[in-house]
Amino acid sequence: MEDKDLIRRATEVLQNAYAPYSKFRVGACAVTPEGEVFCGCNVENASLGLTICAERAAIFAAVAAGLRKIEKIVVIGDRADAPAFPCGACLQVMNEFGVETVIVGTVGGPAQKYALTDLLPRPFNF
Ligand code: THU
Repeated sequence: MEDKDLIRRATEVLQNAYAPYSKFRVGACAVTPEGEVFCGCNVENASLGLTICAERAAIFAAVAAGLRKIEKIVVIGDRADAPAFPCGACLQVMNEFGVETVIVGTVGGPAQKYALTDLLPRPFNF
């Protein structure tokens, strides 16, 4: 699937975000080396720390389907003034499953491509 189609899929899935507290909706699509696509959105909770980000929701869906390698992830947020750069926790999870490329954008706006090593140059490894 081309990047523009992945961006469209992430934009669609963010409509399902559950974000009554922040009002910031995020959608993500994780792509495997075989080209399979798994999508997720952020899901918040009244106990705010239980919130899960869209990126981890997408990656965990891929893992639950038996996949162990994610090549690329596309993240789209719905605020033009705030590109949805992945948080540190999500970057660390991306590192765990071998993500190489991260595309970050906003709904209807431009999207930029980054190497995971640029966003997380010193991941924790055990
Ligand atoms: N969020 C994501 O889903 N991904 C990001 O890249 C950054 C933040 C969510 C978590 C929370 O629901 C809302 O955005 C505000 O932090």
